[in-house]
Amino acid sequence: MARITASVYTSHVPAIGAALDLGKTQEPYWQPVFKGYEFGKQWLKDNKPDVIFLVFNDHATAFSLDMIPTFAIGTAAEYQPADEGWGPRPVPKVMGHPELASHIAQSVIQQDFDLTIVNKMDVDHGLTVPLSLMCGQPEAWPCPVIPFAVNVVQYPVPSGQRCYNLGKAIAKAVASYDEDINVQIWGTGGMSHQLQGPRAGLINKDFDNTFLDKLINDPESAAGISHIDYVREAGSEGIELVMWLIARGAMADAAGGARPKAVQRFYHVPASNTAVGHLILENT
Ligand code: DHB
Ligand code: FE
Repeated sequence: MARITASVYTSHVPAIGAALDLGKTQEPYWQPVFKGYEFGKQWLKDNKPDVIFLVFNDHATAFSLDMIPTFAIGTAAEYQPADEGWGPRPVPKVMGHPELASHIAQSVIQQDFDLTIVNKMDVDHGLTVPLSLMCGQPEAWPCPVIPFAVNVVQYPVPSGQRCYNLGKAIAKAVASYDEDINVQIWGTGGMSHQLQGPRAGLINKDFDNTFLDKLINDPESAAGISHIDYVREAGSEGIELVMWLIARGAMADAAGGARPKAVQRFYHVPASNTAVGHLILENT
């Protein structure tokens, strides 16, 4: 049977992608950010998954305000990097895993989570920047990826609790896939940041570090954080953190199993307007 071996958490920022693509990673501003991912890059080589289930948010790139799915699962064979205004990033196309994605869609919808099925979609920095941070600049990404898009852009957005419960359903779905493969689930976006209005530039280190503590040790309490608290404490785009709860809910302890082992924790302020956080949790 398939199993979820680990979860990876990381912020996304378009400027991180630009720094990589333009060869600026060794500049003093960027050097500490990329240093924080050196462990993760080696860890990913040593713990190569067969498939990455990548929870991310689209930024009105694939889904405009014409259509706003709350939860959308990519069932396509491949996904092109999106043009976000400066042309598509010069990164490999993302190969999908239609069989596992369709199985997860079937199972999760029957567990009463309504997913939108997406057979064609371009993927923006929300998906490509986490891949770049963890994989560097390869000719091809190391394995197939199932993109799972969450609406955190246009209210109403899903609650942290619903995301955590959805993670549990995804873990059940993976465990019922009849092939012996190793799946990682990644939760991306966050940490604290606000891109608009009088509080633009807001970063809250205390909130972020408490969130990381809770996510590792007491995910139920992280799942209980309300929308108003994310917005008040972590800024309007801090709401992206609910996506981390999907990955956390898919870990074994959420279903009564063993606690995961935290093998990496990194926090850095700022990258562009955003606090960068990164965790790796392994199922034991
Ligand atoms: C930035 C962060 C984001 O999450 C985003 O989607 C766009 C920009 C930033 O910090 O610049
Ligand atoms: Fe974002």
